[in-house]
Amino acid sequence: MQYNNIWDFRDSAKKILTKEAWDYLEGGAGDEVTIKKNRTVFDKYSFRPRIPYKVFNEINTEVSILGERRRLPILVGPVSPLELFHSGGERAQVQAAMDAGTIAVCSGHSLAKIEEMGSWNGNKWFQLYSSVDAAHNYEIIDRACLAGYEALVVTVDAFHKAIRDRNLKNNFKLPTDIGFGNYPCKSYRTDGSIELLPLGWDDLTKILDHSKIPVIIKGILNPQDVRLASDLGFAGVIISNHGGRQLDKTSTTLEILAEIGDVSKDGFDIYIDGGFMRGVDILMALALGANAVLLGRAYVYGLVVAGASGISNVITLLMNELSNSMAQLGISSISELSPELLSRN
Ligand SMILES: Cc1cc2nc3c(=O)[nH]c(=O)nc-3n(C[C@H](O)[C@H](O)[C@H](O)COP(=O)(O)O)c2cc1C
Repeated sequence: MQYNNIWDFRDSAKKILTKEAWDYLEGGAGDEVTIKKNRTVFDKYSFRPRIPYKVFNEINTEVSILGERRRLPILVGPVSPLELFHSGGERAQVQAAMDAGTIAVCSGHSLAKIEEMGSWNGNKWFQLYSSVDAAHNYEIIDRACLAGYEALVVTVDAFHKAIRDRNLKNNFKLPTDIGFGNYPCKSYRTDGSIELLPLGWDDLTKILDHSKIPVIIKGILNPQDVRLASDLGFAGVIISNHGGRQLDKTSTTLEILAEIGDVSKDGFDIYIDGGFMRGVDILMALALGANAVLLGRAYVYGLVVAGASGISNVITLLMNELSNSMAQLGISSISELSPELLSRN
Protein backbone atom coordinates (compact mmCIF):
# COMPACT_ATOMS: atom_id res chain seq x y z
CA MET A 1 0.00 0.00 0.00
CA GLN A 2 1.31 3.43 -0.94
CA TYR A 3 0.70 6.21 1.58
CA ASN A 4 0.60 9.52 -0.28
CA ASN A 5 -1.25 11.48 2.35
CA ILE A 6 -2.88 11.17 5.77
CA TRP A 7 -6.13 10.01 4.18
CA ASP A 8 -4.36 6.88 2.91
CA PHE A 9 -3.25 6.10 6.48
CA ARG A 10 -6.80 6.76 7.65
CA ASP A 11 -8.26 4.32 5.09
CA SER A 12 -5.91 1.56 6.23
CA ALA A 13 -6.49 2.27 9.92
CA LYS A 14 -10.23 1.96 9.43
CA LYS A 15 -9.76 -1.49 7.89
CA ILE A 16 -7.52 -2.65 10.75
CA LEU A 17 -9.50 -1.46 13.80
CA THR A 18 -12.72 -2.96 15.10
CA LYS A 19 -15.81 -0.84 14.48
CA GLU A 20 -15.98 0.02 18.20
CA ALA A 21 -12.36 1.20 18.38
CA TRP A 22 -12.69 3.10 15.07
CA ASP A 23 -15.82 4.90 16.28
CA TYR A 24 -14.10 5.71 19.57
CA LEU A 25 -11.21 7.29 17.65
CA GLU A 26 -13.20 9.12 14.99
CA GLY A 27 -16.34 10.00 16.86
CA GLY A 28 -17.23 13.08 18.82
CA ALA A 29 -19.96 14.83 20.71
CA GLY A 30 -23.52 15.42 19.49
CA ASP A 31 -23.96 15.74 15.74
CA GLU A 32 -20.16 15.95 15.29
CA VAL A 33 -20.54 19.44 13.84
CA THR A 34 -17.30 20.59 15.47
CA ILE A 35 -15.42 17.66 13.94
CA LYS A 36 -16.63 18.64 10.47
CA LYS A 37 -15.92 22.34 11.07
CA ASN A 38 -12.39 21.49 12.27
CA ARG A 39 -11.69 20.38 8.69
CA THR A 40 -13.76 22.83 6.64
CA VAL A 41 -12.26 25.86 8.41
CA PHE A 42 -9.05 25.31 6.42
CA ASP A 43 -11.08 26.05 3.28
CA LYS A 44 -12.09 29.43 4.65
CA TYR A 45 -8.57 30.82 4.33
CA SER A 46 -6.45 31.25 1.20
CA PHE A 47 -2.76 31.88 0.74
CA ARG A 48 -1.44 34.88 -1.18
CA PRO A 49 2.06 33.85 -2.27
CA ARG A 50 4.80 36.47 -2.75
CA ILE A 51 7.80 36.45 -5.06
CA PRO A 52 10.74 35.84 -2.69
CA TYR A 53 13.35 38.61 -2.28
CA LYS A 54 16.11 36.07 -2.64
CA VAL A 55 16.15 32.73 -4.41
CA PHE A 56 16.61 29.97 -1.83
CA ASN A 57 17.48 26.27 -1.84
CA GLU A 58 16.85 25.36 1.76
CA ILE A 59 13.71 25.43 3.83
CA ASN A 60 14.06 26.09 7.54
CA THR A 61 11.09 24.86 9.60
CA GLU A 62 12.57 25.85 12.99
CA VAL A 63 10.26 27.33 15.60
CA SER A 64 10.57 28.36 19.24
CA ILE A 65 9.02 25.99 21.77
CA LEU A 66 9.29 26.96 25.43
CA GLY A 67 12.20 29.20 24.51
CA GLU A 68 14.18 26.53 22.66
CA ARG A 69 14.74 26.32 18.91
CA ARG A 70 13.19 23.14 17.51
CA ARG A 71 13.32 21.84 13.95
CA LEU A 72 9.68 20.73 13.81
CA PRO A 73 6.56 22.85 14.39
CA ILE A 74 4.73 19.60 15.18
CA LEU A 75 4.17 17.94 18.57
CA VAL A 76 2.73 14.47 19.09
CA GLY A 77 -0.34 15.20 21.21
CA PRO A 78 -1.98 13.37 24.12
CA VAL A 79 -4.36 10.58 23.11
CA SER A 80 -5.67 7.90 25.40
CA PRO A 81 -5.75 4.98 25.50
CA LEU A 82 -3.11 4.46 22.80
CA GLU A 83 -2.98 0.79 23.73
CA LEU A 84 -6.47 0.44 22.24
CA PHE A 85 -5.06 1.33 18.83
CA HIS A 86 -1.77 -0.57 18.90
CA SER A 87 -0.12 -2.73 21.48
CA GLY A 88 2.81 -0.75 22.88
CA GLY A 89 1.20 2.44 21.56
CA GLU A 90 2.34 4.64 24.43
CA ARG A 91 5.95 3.71 23.94
CA ALA A 92 5.57 4.08 20.16
CA GLN A 93 4.36 7.68 20.58
CA VAL A 94 7.46 8.65 22.60
CA GLN A 95 9.80 6.73 20.30
CA ALA A 96 8.44 8.33 17.12
CA ALA A 97 8.54 11.83 18.62
CA MET A 98 12.16 11.28 19.61
CA ASP A 99 13.12 9.89 16.20
CA ALA A 100 11.59 12.98 14.57
CA GLY A 101 13.34 15.32 17.02
CA THR A 102 10.14 16.59 18.59
CA ILE A 103 8.15 16.34 21.81
CA ALA A 104 5.61 13.71 22.88
CA VAL A 105 2.80 14.99 25.10
CA CYS A 106 2.03 11.88 27.15
CA SER A 107 -1.58 11.48 28.23
CA GLY A 108 -2.10 11.26 31.99
CA HIS A 109 -4.67 8.59 31.27
CA SER A 110 -1.95 6.16 30.28
CA LEU A 111 -1.64 2.51 31.07
CA ALA A 112 2.05 3.00 31.86
CA LYS A 113 2.96 4.76 35.08
CA ILE A 114 4.28 8.32 35.02
CA GLU A 115 7.75 7.09 35.99
CA GLU A 116 7.84 4.36 33.36
CA MET A 117 6.98 6.76 30.52
CA GLY A 118 9.42 9.24 32.05
CA SER A 119 12.23 6.68 31.75
CA TRP A 120 11.75 6.32 27.97
CA ASN A 121 14.26 8.36 25.95
CA GLY A 122 13.02 11.53 24.31
CA ASN A 123 11.57 14.94 25.13
CA LYS A 124 8.23 14.61 26.89
CA TRP A 125 5.53 16.78 28.40
CA PHE A 126 3.03 15.30 30.86
CA GLN A 127 -0.70 15.91 30.36
CA LEU A 128 -2.75 16.09 33.54
CA TYR A 129 -6.40 15.19 33.85
CA SER A 130 -7.37 16.42 37.33
CA SER A 131 -8.10 13.57 39.71
CA VAL A 132 -11.26 13.69 41.88
CA ASP A 133 -8.86 13.75 44.81
CA ALA A 134 -7.23 17.22 44.79
CA ALA A 135 -4.26 16.03 46.91
CA HIS A 136 -3.65 13.30 44.35
CA ASN A 137 -3.24 15.97 41.65
CA TYR A 138 -0.32 17.53 43.50
CA GLU A 139 1.20 14.08 44.01
CA ILE A 140 0.94 13.44 40.24
CA ILE A 141 2.51 16.83 39.46
CA ASP A 142 5.43 16.14 41.85
CA ARG A 143 5.96 12.73 40.28
CA ALA A 144 5.89 14.21 36.76
CA CYS A 145 8.46 16.86 37.78
CA LEU A 146 10.72 14.17 39.28
CA ALA A 147 10.31 11.85 36.29
CA GLY A 148 11.90 14.38 33.94
CA TYR A 149 8.97 15.71 31.89
CA GLU A 150 9.78 19.19 30.62
CA ALA A 151 6.32 20.72 30.97
CA LEU A 152 2.93 20.04 32.50
CA VAL A 153 -0.12 20.28 30.25
CA VAL A 154 -3.37 20.70 32.18
CA THR A 155 -6.46 19.78 30.16
CA VAL A 156 -9.47 21.93 31.03
CA ASP A 157 -12.09 20.99 28.44
CA ALA A 158 -13.02 17.49 29.54
CA PHE A 159 -14.15 17.75 33.16
CA HIS A 160 -17.63 16.48 32.32
CA LYS A 161 -18.33 13.20 30.58
CA ALA A 162 -19.16 13.79 26.93
CA ILE A 163 -22.21 12.35 25.17
CA ARG A 164 -20.87 10.56 22.11
CA ASP A 165 -23.60 8.82 20.14
CA ARG A 166 -21.32 6.38 18.37
CA ASN A 167 -20.01 5.03 21.68
CA LEU A 168 -23.53 4.78 23.07
CA LYS A 169 -24.72 2.90 20.01
CA ASN A 170 -21.80 0.48 20.23
CA ASN A 171 -22.20 0.20 24.01
CA PHE A 172 -18.48 1.01 24.05
CA LYS A 173 -16.48 0.09 27.14
CA LEU A 174 -12.73 0.15 27.45
CA PRO A 175 -11.28 -3.37 27.48
CA THR A 176 -10.60 -4.46 31.06
CA ASP A 177 -6.88 -4.96 30.35
CA ILE A 178 -6.56 -1.29 29.36
CA GLY A 179 -6.67 0.52 32.70
CA PHE A 180 -5.14 3.78 33.85
CA GLY A 181 -1.86 3.42 35.68
CA ASN A 182 -1.93 6.71 37.54
CA TYR A 183 -5.40 6.97 39.06
CA PRO A 184 -6.86 5.45 42.26
CA CYS A 185 -9.75 2.96 41.91
CA LYS A 186 -12.26 5.41 43.36
CA SER A 187 -11.88 7.58 40.23
CA TYR A 188 -13.32 4.93 37.95
CA ARG A 189 -16.82 5.25 36.49
CA THR A 190 -18.75 2.06 35.76
CA ASP A 191 -17.88 2.27 32.03
CA GLY A 192 -14.15 2.29 32.82
CA SER A 193 -13.65 6.01 32.21
CA ILE A 194 -12.37 8.33 34.91
CA GLU A 195 -14.21 10.90 37.03
CA LEU A 196 -12.48 14.29 36.91
CA LEU A 197 -12.39 17.24 39.28
CA PRO A 198 -13.40 20.46 37.51
CA LEU A 199 -10.74 23.18 37.87
CA GLY A 200 -11.28 26.95 37.90
CA TRP A 201 -8.68 29.73 37.56
CA ASP A 202 -7.97 29.57 41.34
CA ASP A 203 -7.09 25.88 41.12
CA LEU A 204 -5.03 26.44 37.98
CA THR A 205 -3.06 29.22 39.67
CA LYS A 206 -2.36 26.90 42.63
CA ILE A 207 -1.10 24.25 40.20
CA LEU A 208 1.09 26.88 38.53
CA ASP A 209 2.55 27.89 41.91
CA HIS A 210 3.12 24.27 42.86
CA SER A 211 4.71 23.00 39.64
CA LYS A 212 8.46 23.09 39.20
CA ILE A 213 8.10 22.77 35.43
CA PRO A 214 6.33 25.19 33.03
CA VAL A 215 2.53 24.82 32.95
CA ILE A 216 0.52 24.97 29.72
CA ILE A 217 -3.29 24.97 29.66
CA LYS A 218 -4.93 22.75 27.03
CA GLY A 219 -8.49 23.23 25.87
CA ILE A 220 -8.73 27.03 25.76
CA LEU A 221 -11.27 28.28 23.26
CA ASN A 222 -11.94 31.86 24.19
CA PRO A 223 -9.57 34.80 23.52
CA GLN A 224 -10.28 36.21 27.00
CA ASP A 225 -8.95 33.01 28.59
CA VAL A 226 -5.83 33.21 26.44
CA ARG A 227 -5.17 36.71 27.77
CA LEU A 228 -5.83 35.60 31.37
CA ALA A 229 -3.43 32.67 31.02
CA SER A 230 -0.78 35.04 29.68
CA ASP A 231 -1.35 37.61 32.44
CA LEU A 232 -1.27 34.96 35.19
CA GLY A 233 2.15 33.66 34.09
CA PHE A 234 1.34 30.34 32.43
CA ALA A 235 3.95 29.20 29.89
CA GLY A 236 1.36 28.87 27.16
CA VAL A 237 -1.97 27.57 25.99
CA ILE A 238 -3.11 24.91 23.57
CA ILE A 239 -6.12 26.24 21.70
CA SER A 240 -8.24 23.12 21.36
CA ASN A 241 -11.83 21.89 21.19
CA HIS A 242 -10.63 18.38 22.09
CA GLY A 243 -11.08 17.29 18.49
CA GLY A 244 -14.86 17.86 18.76
CA ARG A 245 -15.18 15.16 21.40
CA GLN A 246 -16.57 17.21 24.32
CA LEU A 247 -18.82 20.17 23.43
CA ASP A 248 -20.34 20.13 19.97
CA LYS A 249 -20.83 23.30 17.89
CA THR A 250 -17.86 25.17 19.30
CA SER A 251 -15.74 27.66 17.42
CA THR A 252 -12.89 26.20 15.47
CA THR A 253 -9.41 26.60 16.85
CA LEU A 254 -8.06 28.31 13.71
CA GLU A 255 -10.74 31.03 13.99
CA ILE A 256 -9.90 31.62 17.66
CA LEU A 257 -6.22 31.81 16.78
CA ALA A 258 -6.99 34.41 14.08
CA GLU A 259 -9.01 36.41 16.61
CA ILE A 260 -6.38 36.43 19.34
CA GLY A 261 -4.00 38.59 17.36
CA ASP A 262 -0.65 39.22 18.93
CA VAL A 263 -0.88 37.82 22.45
CA SER A 264 2.15 35.61 22.07
CA LYS A 265 5.17 37.18 23.75
CA ASP A 266 8.48 36.04 25.21
CA GLY A 267 7.69 33.33 27.72
CA PHE A 268 4.14 32.70 26.51
CA ASP A 269 3.54 30.21 23.70
CA ILE A 270 0.44 29.50 21.68
CA TYR A 271 -0.17 25.98 20.43
CA ILE A 272 -3.16 24.68 18.53
CA ASP A 273 -4.77 21.38 17.55
CA GLY A 274 -7.91 20.08 15.84
CA GLY A 275 -8.21 18.58 12.38
CA PHE A 276 -4.62 19.09 11.18
CA MET A 277 -4.20 16.60 8.30
CA ARG A 278 -2.09 18.51 5.75
CA GLY A 279 1.15 20.48 5.66
CA VAL A 280 -0.78 23.54 4.43
CA ASP A 281 -3.07 23.31 7.48
CA ILE A 282 -0.01 23.56 9.70
CA LEU A 283 1.32 26.45 7.60
CA MET A 284 -1.94 28.37 8.10
CA ALA A 285 -1.74 28.03 11.89
CA LEU A 286 1.89 29.16 11.89
CA ALA A 287 1.00 32.16 9.68
CA LEU A 288 -1.68 33.12 12.20
CA GLY A 289 0.87 33.10 15.02
CA ALA A 290 0.93 29.60 16.53
CA ASN A 291 4.29 28.38 17.85
CA ALA A 292 3.45 24.81 16.82
CA VAL A 293 0.65 22.36 16.09
CA LEU A 294 -0.28 19.21 18.01
CA LEU A 295 -1.33 16.12 16.09
CA GLY A 296 -4.19 13.96 17.35
CA ARG A 297 -6.00 11.47 15.13
CA ALA A 298 -3.52 12.01 12.26
CA TYR A 299 -0.69 10.24 14.08
CA VAL A 300 -2.99 7.58 15.52
CA TYR A 301 -3.75 6.47 11.94
CA GLY A 302 -0.01 5.89 11.46
CA LEU A 303 0.22 4.12 14.82
CA VAL A 304 -2.58 1.72 13.86
CA VAL A 305 -0.92 0.94 10.52
CA ALA A 306 2.66 0.36 11.68
CA GLY A 307 3.36 1.32 15.32
CA ALA A 308 6.19 3.79 15.92
CA SER A 309 7.38 3.70 12.31
CA GLY A 310 3.82 4.46 11.17
CA ILE A 311 3.80 7.59 13.34
CA SER A 312 7.25 8.52 11.98
CA ASN A 313 5.92 8.17 8.43
CA VAL A 314 2.98 10.45 9.22
CA ILE A 315 5.33 13.09 10.65
CA THR A 316 7.71 12.84 7.67
CA LEU A 317 4.83 13.12 5.22
CA LEU A 318 3.44 16.23 6.93
CA MET A 319 6.91 17.79 7.14
CA ASN A 320 7.46 17.20 3.40
CA GLU A 321 4.11 18.80 2.63
CA LEU A 322 4.90 21.70 4.96
CA SER A 323 8.35 22.38 3.41
CA ASN A 324 6.91 22.16 -0.08
CA SER A 325 4.07 24.56 0.77
CA MET A 326 6.55 27.03 2.25
CA ALA A 327 8.58 27.00 -0.98
CA GLN A 328 5.40 27.43 -3.05
CA LEU A 329 4.42 30.36 -0.84
CA GLY A 330 7.78 32.02 -1.43
CA ILE A 331 9.29 31.74 2.04
CA SER A 332 12.32 29.85 3.28
CA SER A 333 11.76 30.09 7.03
CA ILE A 334 8.81 30.18 9.44
CA SER A 335 9.89 33.63 10.65
CA GLU A 336 8.95 35.03 7.22
CA LEU A 337 5.32 34.03 7.75
CA SER A 338 2.73 36.65 8.59
CA PRO A 339 -1.08 36.88 8.58
CA GLU A 340 -0.81 39.10 5.46
CA LEU A 341 0.08 35.99 3.47
CA LEU A 342 -3.42 34.68 4.22
CA SER A 343 -6.83 36.04 3.45
CA ARG A 344 -10.22 34.92 4.76
CA ASN A 345 -12.53 33.96 1.88
C1 LIG B 1 -9.11 8.92 20.85
C2 LIG B 1 -8.72 10.23 21.45
C3 LIG B 1 -8.28 10.28 22.76
C4 LIG B 1 -7.87 11.49 23.34
N1 LIG B 1 -7.32 11.49 24.60
C5 LIG B 1 -6.88 12.66 25.14
C6 LIG B 1 -6.22 12.68 26.40
O1 LIG B 1 -5.98 11.65 27.01
N2 LIG B 1 -5.85 13.88 26.89
C7 LIG B 1 -6.09 15.07 26.22
O2 LIG B 1 -5.73 16.14 26.72
N3 LIG B 1 -6.66 15.06 25.00
C8 LIG B 1 -7.05 13.90 24.44
N4 LIG B 1 -7.60 13.89 23.19
C9 LIG B 1 -7.70 15.15 22.43
C10 LIG B 1 -6.41 15.37 21.60
O3 LIG B 1 -5.30 15.65 22.41
C11 LIG B 1 -6.58 16.56 20.63
O4 LIG B 1 -7.03 17.68 21.34
C12 LIG B 1 -7.53 16.26 19.47
O5 LIG B 1 -7.45 14.91 19.09
C13 LIG B 1 -7.17 17.13 18.28
O6 LIG B 1 -8.04 16.90 17.20
P1 LIG B 1 -7.67 15.96 15.94
O7 LIG B 1 -7.69 14.57 16.44
O8 LIG B 1 -8.74 16.26 14.98
O9 LIG B 1 -6.31 16.38 15.46
C14 LIG B 1 -7.97 12.69 22.60
C15 LIG B 1 -8.41 12.63 21.26
C16 LIG B 1 -8.76 11.43 20.68
C17 LIG B 1 -9.19 11.40 19.24
